[in-house]
Amino acid sequence: MSQVGSSTQAGSAIPPFFFIVTLDGPAGVGKSTLARKLAVALGIPYLDTGAMFRRLAFELRGNSDISAQKLREVFAGLHFTLSSGNGESRLLCNGVAVGNEIRTEKVGLWAARIAGNPVAREVLQEAQRAVGARSSLVVEGRDVGTEVFPDACCKFFLDASPEVRALRRLKELEMRGESHDLAELADSIRERDTMDRERAIAPLRLAADAVFIDTSELDIEGVFAVLMAHVRRKVPA
Ligand code: DC
Repeated sequence: MSQVGSSTQAGSAIPPFFFIVTLDGPAGVGKSTLARKLAVALGIPYLDTGAMFRRLAFELRGNSDISAQKLREVFAGLHFTLSSGNGESRLLCNGVAVGNEIRTEKVGLWAARIAGNPVAREVLQEAQRAVGARSSLVVEGRDVGTEVFPDACCKFFLDASPEVRALRRLKELEMRGESHDLAELADSIRERDTMDRERAIAPLRLAADAVFIDTSELDIEGVFAVLMAHVRRKVPA
């Protein structure tokens, strides 16, 4: 396993020998599955920036009404690293794998709330760029192609209707043995869409140079084939 850390300062410049592929899009569109598959195919690590927002929100127990100083203090106690090897990437926080405790709808809403805080965005962006300064990466999130890695060589924006995404999320949760109400999931997804798309700072939006893919009518393999066709043209062999 190799580890790429996020403890040192880094600018947005991507070292010339590394390449970054970004996937942005709303909740439940399948970014994580696709980013993971893409990373395996390219033989590089994968960074889930939403997991970093979720982990910070989890640490704050959902409290987003917090002073800038307190937030910086809390974040100073969180050290993110990426552990990768054998086709797997794992986000670690203080050496511990970030797990399913952050994967609930509640923590997702907490994360969307703290994502509107400029200090939270600043410290997390710095940590995300530090990881990108150490390794080629597939990165997924809401602003990774627009704000975090504007110079990425290959950018995608994935979308699908809230109904389609809620159904996918339901199936994913059922696979984990959790039962949920489809209408409630759709409401939660719409609520997060509003927060993610309408926040004043770094809202979810299509980068001018991103490839837009409507995944509503495609399965994971179908979207993956489209992604790979674009990536092969842009990424050094
Ligand atoms: O991808 P996710 O559902 O795990 O993300 C949770 C929340 O984190 C999302 O609703 C908004 C925030 N987020 C963000 O603002 N910017 C990112 N690059 C990634 C996530």
